[in-house]
Amino acid sequence: MNIKNKKKINYKYPKILLTGGTGQLGNELKKNLQSLGEVWSPNSKQFNLAEPETLREKIKYYQPDLIINSAAYTAVDQAELNSKLVSCINVVSTKVLAEEAFCLQIPLIHYSTDYVFDGSQKTPYTESDKPNPINVYGKTKLDGEHEIQKNHNQYLILRTSWLFGLYGKNFYTTMLQLFKEKKTVNVVNDQVGSPTSIEFLAKATLEILSQLKKNEEENRWGVYHLAGEEQMTWFDFAKKIYKQEKNSNNFIIEKILPISHKKYLTEATRPNFSVLNCDLIQKNFEYIYKKFSKTDI
Ligand SMILES: NC(=O)c1ccc[n+]([C@@H]2O[C@H](COP(=O)([O-])OP(=O)(O)OC[C@H]3O[C@@H](n4cnc5c(N)ncnc54)[C@H](OP(=O)(O)O)[C@@H]3O)[C@@H](O)[C@H]2O)c1
Repeated sequence: MNIKNKKKINYKYPKILLTGGTGQLGNELKKNLQSLGEVWSPNSKQFNLAEPETLREKIKYYQPDLIINSAAYTAVDQAELNSKLVSCINVVSTKVLAEEAFCLQIPLIHYSTDYVFDGSQKTPYTESDKPNPINVYGKTKLDGEHEIQKNHNQYLILRTSWLFGLYGKNFYTTMLQLFKEKKTVNVVNDQVGSPTSIEFLAKATLEILSQLKKNEEENRWGVYHLAGEEQMTWFDFAKKIYKQEKNSNNFIIEKILPISHKKYLTEATRPNFSVLNCDLIQKNFEYIYKKFSKTDI
């Protein structure tokens, strides 16, 4: 690590530790964060969340002014078969990050998920609705939230949902590929959520960081929902992707067909409804949605 002593006085957060920089969101954050400070974004070998205790000395050595944790074990179905590893990455390491951020008295920004809810509700979930995860991924993400709440006082836990973008493996890029390879694609039409643009989420995070006060007057720490504004099923989402991309791609797809999730078997059970109510973040951090208005596909 040759990153010590690179503090620049004019930056709001002179040294930022960003985990998960190779991931979809982390990659987008990396592009945007330079305006706030010097970013150290180690890869998963240099900073391995599967070995939580090794992280402490690296954080102590780097002495960040801000930690953003966009890394996680995110493979929802595989998580069912690897619960020990998932728990290590999503819970134990999150606890270590929270404890170290507390020692340094620096903010921790952490991302969580709509999958902390069971989907039994019919109206968008607020931050005060009771979580009840129904798969290993959701359970570990909720346990990770609890570790932060127990061990730190300056944190933002941003629960988001259905991330999409043109980078990495997500529903959007999967559909693009399938539309090029298949004449018929079946898509689940009885699970409802809110697609969230990765570009929007990264920019909104930056806006929130720039609005945060750098003193004890700041009292907006806590859990927030931050997701796209529209709600839809995966099937609706697939049709929108088709409409948006058909003129610039060589699709061979002829039919996109709606199916029940019961016909699409996966290791993990997913909530049937996981739309997040994002009123609180809009109230506490002004202009986020107005500023980056085109959050929907
Ligand atoms: N994707 C979604 O639809 C969605 C929905 C709701 C919430 N979220 C949350 O949003 C955040 C970002 O998600 P994403 O989709 O951008 O994730 P992603 O693309 O799957 O990227 C995950 C990142 O975590 C890193 N990582 C995994 N295991 C690691 C380890 N042992 N040590 C260090 N780093 C490790 C990966 O590094 P490698 O590349 O080296 O493996 C990668 O950089 C996560 O907290 C996720 O839970 C995502």
